[in-house]
Amino acid sequence: MINLTDYGIEMWDDEKIASFRRTLLNWYDNEKRDLPWRRTKNPYFIWISEIMLQQTQVVTVIPYYERFLEWFPTIEDLANAPEDKLLKAWEGLGYYSRVRNMQKAAQEIMENFGGVFPDNHKDILSLKGIGPYTAGAISSIAFGLAEPAVDGNVMRVMARLFEVNYDIGDPKNRKIFQAIMEILIDPERPGDFNQALMDLGTDIESAKNPRPDESPIRFFSAAYLHGTYDKYPIKLPKKKPKPLQIQAFVIRNSKGDFLLEKNLDGRLLGGFWSFPIVETDFIGQQLDLFENDTTSLQTVSQKALFEKDYQVTPDWTKREFSLVKHTFSHQKWTIELIEGMVTSDEVSKDKELRWVSLDQLQDYPMATPQKKMLAEYLKKID
Ligand code: ADE
Repeated sequence: MINLTDYGIEMWDDEKIASFRRTLLNWYDNEKRDLPWRRTKNPYFIWISEIMLQQTQVVTVIPYYERFLEWFPTIEDLANAPEDKLLKAWEGLGYYSRVRNMQKAAQEIMENFGGVFPDNHKDILSLKGIGPYTAGAISSIAFGLAEPAVDGNVMRVMARLFEVNYDIGDPKNRKIFQAIMEILIDPERPGDFNQALMDLGTDIESAKNPRPDESPIRFFSAAYLHGTYDKYPIKLPKKKPKPLQIQAFVIRNSKGDFLLEKNLDGRLLGGFWSFPIVETDFIGQQLDLFENDTTSLQTVSQKALFEKDYQVTPDWTKREFSLVKHTFSHQKWTIELIEGMVTSDEVSKDKELRWVSLDQLQDYPMATPQKKMLAEYLKKID
């Protein structure tokens, strides 16, 4: 373990640590939020909640959590879930690798742990998709083990308590906050201790609108007492998401069905159904087949390329759509919709393509950018 004094941090004495624990847990006992995953000790349920809560707010998570438990009440149900149903359960939460990893972990539990969720930190941490934060949360909440659960909220609160002069956005600094928490965590009530800090970090000690004068632990906080609260935590700017130009082809047949493609790419949005899309920057510029088309040369060549790739020859309409925007953590998409009508249902056999009616669309897992495209499309065709 690291030595905190090397990082300019002076740890409190035992008496102050005990007093801090009492203060925080008293506050939690009076103020804690009544959340569905706080009414259980089932590690499987707690695991689901923690994974969902990683990028999503509590109010959004609650209905997803409840439906997930209905659809997959046991680890075995999750291990055996069909991909489409799994993605449907996660639809709208984003970061879909999280639920795919959960399924792999559920399969590991079936194979290596006899279907029983492991009850020690090392085995929990060994599961696919479970990192130090989640392993700490499950260990402490479900099994009462004195393991910290260090996320951005906890780092922010710790940075203010000890005036930590290290960037909380840099993964290599996590060990500093982990070390602080290993000393502070209450061995009698580690799950409540961790969750008290989560509640504090998402509300009174939030990043954007903190209310330091209301914090139950303000008199322990070096930043509060020294008037440096605004300086902490140190958080240096992150790399911006890369802008990408995307064209999406909304192709309809004589029945009005849409041409959907299953994304077989194992990375971003793999397994989801989408209108066929292409990134425009790397598409060829050379084809000049549609002389009287008024759209840009690039769009003309995109259409030609699309026709070749998908083996369709739509009548391209001139309907205009607003650009659809969607930001992922690492990419920022600007999407142009292009509408085409076909009379034949013949399409390329090299891709997973399907004609789907508007009513059936809801049975196909579609990620948020595709849903935004559909919404924009439907808005303009009424
Ligand atoms: N955020 C992450 N885990 C949480 C929990 N157990 N309770 C409330 N908010 C959380």
